[in-house]
Amino acid sequence: MATLSYKSLTFLVLSLLVCSAHGQLSTSFYQKKCPNLQTIVRSVVSQAIAKEARMGASILRLFFHDCFVNGCDGGILLDDTPTFTGEKNAGPNANSARGFEVIDAIKTQVEASCNATVSCADILTLAARDGVNLLGGPTWNVPLGRRDALTASLTGANSNLPGPGSSLSALISMFSAQGLTAREMTALSGAHTIGQASCQFFRNRIFNEKNINASFASLRQQTCPQSGGDNNLAPLDVQSPNAFDNAYYVDLVNKQGLFHSDQELFNGGSQDKVVTQYSTNAALFASDFAKAMVKLSKISPLTGKNGEIRLNCRKIN
Ligand code: HEM
Repeated sequence: MATLSYKSLTFLVLSLLVCSAHGQLSTSFYQKKCPNLQTIVRSVVSQAIAKEARMGASILRLFFHDCFVNGCDGGILLDDTPTFTGEKNAGPNANSARGFEVIDAIKTQVEASCNATVSCADILTLAARDGVNLLGGPTWNVPLGRRDALTASLTGANSNLPGPGSSLSALISMFSAQGLTAREMTALSGAHTIGQASCQFFRNRIFNEKNINASFASLRQQTCPQSGGDNNLAPLDVQSPNAFDNAYYVDLVNKQGLFHSDQELFNGGSQDKVVTQYSTNAALFASDFAKAMVKLSKISPLTGKNGEIRLNCRKIN
């Protein structure tokens, strides 16, 4: 009797260990299975950024848009087909999500080195981290072992992602729905220290809002007219659009946030004090951003036997 319960206890402990090993991400996941993975990712992202600095920003945004819809599962990378509707044509992605070719280029090299081993979801997570770091931002260890989705969600992409007109309370509740705090939302918004945005997303702000620096508004109006020029681009951070620094928060303090949603973080509400802190303490921002990115990367991953390792990031095997 004593032996039996000892045996069943051992069995229970072992099964718990196996379960947790399957359900958890680990920074050493590919250490033996694909030792060159991180070198390959960094080198392809580095070449892409050398060609166009903005690409680091575009990949970072892709990662965010992946994770907010059914978790970080590479769902955003799937192309539409006559029989499959993915996320690429959702409002927040259509004509604006970019960087897919860079993920393809990484995947091709990774497949050549370790066939059918590394998920597209993990590649995107690593590429986002490297983009940030190569543009001057922090680096961090990425927990790995995500698997790729067999589905995607157009409706999820349309409903889960915040828009440039969102209020502070909407931003807080959309991030909270993904398990992220208001402070983490404010830190992650610092991603807007790099990259570009189309006129259609900030036109209303530069012509109609009051809490905007007047000369900043006129500067933006020069290339974003009242009508037409919807796709004309402007940098999200007026000071240093290709440097991952804390200038975004200085912009907000100066009422130079490009989107209504950006300026909501510094408009007399609960995040004012966080914005002020980040605007004067670049190291604090860098460290909070890195931690929040790791948390973002852990939203509902597929692990163990769930999902698959896609061979081509654009389609299910
Ligand atoms: C807080 C709510 C957010 C809103 C409302 C928002 C909205 C937007 C919009 C409308 C654009 C411009 C797209 C275009 O014109 O094509 C943009 C760009 C961008 N977003 Fe966000 N975003 C938010 C949070 C985030 C987060 C959390 C990240 C990453 C961690 C992120 C990363 C970026 C980057 C890097 C760009 C520039 C992309 C490029 O140049 O290709 N955003 N965002």
